[in-house]
Amino acid sequence: MNVLLIGSGGREHALAWKLAQSSELGAFYAAPGNPGISEHADLVTLDLADHAAVAAFCKAKDIGLVVVGPEAPLVAGFVDDLSAAGIRVFGPSAAAARLEGSKGFTKDLCSLHDIPTARYRRFVSAADARTYVQETGVPVVIKADGLAAGKGVTVAITKDEALKAVDNCFEGDFAGPGSEIVVEEFLEGEEASLFCICDGERALLFGTAQDHKRAFDGDRGPNTGGMGAYSPALCLSEQMVKRVMREIVEPTLAGMKEAGSPFRGVLYAGLMLTEQGPKLIEYNVRFGDPECQVLMMRLASDLLPVLVAAADGDVSGVDLRWSEDRALTVVMAAEGYPGSYRKGTPIRHLPRGGETVRVFQAGTAMSEAGLVASGGRVLNVTARGKTVREAARRAYLAVDAVDWDGGFWRSDIGHRAIMVEEA
Ligand code: AMP
Ligand code: GLY
Repeated sequence: MNVLLIGSGGREHALAWKLAQSSELGAFYAAPGNPGISEHADLVTLDLADHAAVAAFCKAKDIGLVVVGPEAPLVAGFVDDLSAAGIRVFGPSAAAARLEGSKGFTKDLCSLHDIPTARYRRFVSAADARTYVQETGVPVVIKADGLAAGKGVTVAITKDEALKAVDNCFEGDFAGPGSEIVVEEFLEGEEASLFCICDGERALLFGTAQDHKRAFDGDRGPNTGGMGAYSPALCLSEQMVKRVMREIVEPTLAGMKEAGSPFRGVLYAGLMLTEQGPKLIEYNVRFGDPECQVLMMRLASDLLPVLVAAADGDVSGVDLRWSEDRALTVVMAAEGYPGSYRKGTPIRHLPRGGETVRVFQAGTAMSEAGLVASGGRVLNVTARGKTVREAARRAYLAVDAVDWDGGFWRSDIGHRAIMVEEA
């Protein structure tokens, strides 16, 4: 089967690496891809906003499956248009992608189906939101409704911060016609992520992970897209996973079907494990980045038939096998990230990797002088091991072997898990 992969980050490099091992893979294309992905797929230039042009490419190349990595095309109706053109795509329709594209939509769905989540109110006016914040007090969480590349959320500790965040959503960076926000209860607990491959009706558990969102060691510094992850999440016991499936994921799928927008694709549940039980923080409608990298490192079965089954609407016959190993990834980011960062610094040497270590490329580009950093998150050094400690040791040895001067990384990815593991 010929496959087209959409995206250019470390998540997509991990997907490309895994898909390239499929016994069912024919020709393999990626748009736009990156230098790491080019080791597995032919890179093609396509205007991803021009769905008709992408569909024409798929017809010309006899593409049997399109795999969409990032959320923006999903929210923009990429899957709807390609499906209408008769092309099989793995990913949700625009209506189903509202689970990530609109926080208000997801909160209302939770409320309608008794899915545990933070108490909330939606606002379309700054004045009303300010009054509400004055009444409820802090800590409180302010969220811009739409996609904001992870920057639309403020956990406000003081009233001042909360009011500023409200104003910022209506007048600042995320403002636009029809601006809307969600103000919600602050949840306390440990955060973890759970992934499912969904076919519109059924959810196939696809592993768990824990991300490290803050830029610096000890969970300090600004929020990022993720500075490292490990899988499985030790805090999600088998029993807890069952509870999340029963109380959160399954009612969501049923609710989406009932609403006429069945969810097909990867459902990524961001969870808070509170004293009252697991609660949904947010949904994403795609693989996490860098969580995908650790999932791919642990997946023992062929990925391609799983994605095809989901796209065809029946995952019931899918057989998933996982390595018993733990996997861990360290994100090497460009100095300055998540603020403005330097581009074009040379990456002189990447370790070759092997059975237990892979270096996935995220923000890299090929220049005349060789490989250079071109994005905020640049490399994802990923390893497997019998324990989180062993995976971390292997990953950090490989980090030390990378010859690149322009980057920084956290030195404590997986530390808390190692402490739990060895307690
Ligand atoms: P999100 O963009 O929704 O993933 O939110 C970013 C981060 O904000 C999450 O990973 C949490 O750490 C934090 N967060 C979001 N909502 C809440 C909440 N209701 N209570 C506590 N923390 C939250
Ligand atoms: N690593 C967080 C995300 O992919 O949204």
